[in-house]
Amino acid sequence: MDNLRFCAPCLLGLEGVVADELKALSVKNVSAENGRVLFDGSFNDMARANLSLRCAERVMILLAEFPAKTFDQLFEGTKNINFEDFIGEKDAFPVTGWALNSQLMSIPDCQKIIKKAAVERLKRSYRTDWFEETGSIHQIRFSIMKDKVSIMLDTSGAGLHKRGYRKNSNDAPIKETLAAAIAKLSRLYDDSVVYDPFCGSGTLLIEAALLARNIAPGILRKFSCENWDCIPQNIFREERMRALSAINRDIPFRCIGSDIDKNAIELTFANAKKAGVGDCIVAHEADISDFKISTQRGIVLTNPPYGERLLDKTESERIYRIMGKVFEKEYGKRYFIISPDERFEDFFGRNADKKRKLYNGMIKCNLFMYYK
Ligand SMILES: C[S@@+](CC[C@H](N)C(=O)[O-])C[C@H]1O[C@@H](n2cnc3c(N)ncnc32)[C@H](O)[C@@H]1O
Repeated sequence: MDNLRFCAPCLLGLEGVVADELKALSVKNVSAENGRVLFDGSFNDMARANLSLRCAERVMILLAEFPAKTFDQLFEGTKNINFEDFIGEKDAFPVTGWALNSQLMSIPDCQKIIKKAAVERLKRSYRTDWFEETGSIHQIRFSIMKDKVSIMLDTSGAGLHKRGYRKNSNDAPIKETLAAAIAKLSRLYDDSVVYDPFCGSGTLLIEAALLARNIAPGILRKFSCENWDCIPQNIFREERMRALSAINRDIPFRCIGSDIDKNAIELTFANAKKAGVGDCIVAHEADISDFKISTQRGIVLTNPPYGERLLDKTESERIYRIMGKVFEKEYGKRYFIISPDERFEDFFGRNADKKRKLYNGMIKCNLFMYYK
């Protein structure tokens, strides 16, 4: 199929970044909305988006959008969808979703109605009354926002942040999709040296290295639509070959991580190796007070500990003060720090050259950028 409408949900604040990623994949009619980016494309584009998007959470086929204030309207709108083009007679089609600021707010009831309407539609197509649902999973997702219903089919399965390299993590890892966005916003070069003095499980360094080497973040994993009968077998093979041939390992790019916790260093090594970037990442045990950019130019990408999650507030404020001293303001040295602490700049001692509001899961943060 060549003309499908897709929806790529993303963390709030990353819509523009995901839209740019999609434009770079040459899909059509990209439009960014609140928490999602829509685009048109083919099954090949769908496979490429799943493999290549660094900052989106999923790739879904947008089956229909319609207004609904009553369960009848929800049922009728859903029953009009051509589910049979994607869902086979034996396939499983569970339903999940959310509603916000709408008349229809009961999720279990909406789930039941949407399921019933999908069954009704498929009954007519397959001339059967009973669906065993033993085949591949076609997760139906819905959202209802201000009485506007979107019905989608999830092609990714596990969220795209599950790259397949992070089997292990420390206490407060940053989400891979957010780490990739920070790396993108920092404008890396092939010969950049990236530092993270609070590297934890290494996520920011690994995502930066994947980006610099043009390694598709989904290359290690599978996607649920790979098991669908409606998707031609060769599509994912072709797109994986294309992604593999685009990798550029012959660049001087490297990363230097450190952390006060010895286990974090081991995790960083193990995860970097699994991600295929172990050869360009080094890491060592160190306290932030001993941090120094040891190269002429350097980019720090970091997610320091925060009071509510890892440390008490006074300790995190002490750490921000130390960062202000060791993150020297010098030509060629740039700093990108994500923190939920509104008063970060006060403790750090300098106002950021630019700030960008981002969400780390449900936590509202700022990316404090120092580059002048
Ligand atoms: C929020 S976590 C970073 C998570 C990391 N971005 C990841 O994805 O796994 C903060 C890290 O700071 C480290 N840390 C805490 N105090 C430190 C200090 N004084 N010096 C260096 N590292 C410290 C912790 O061990 C923890 O790994």
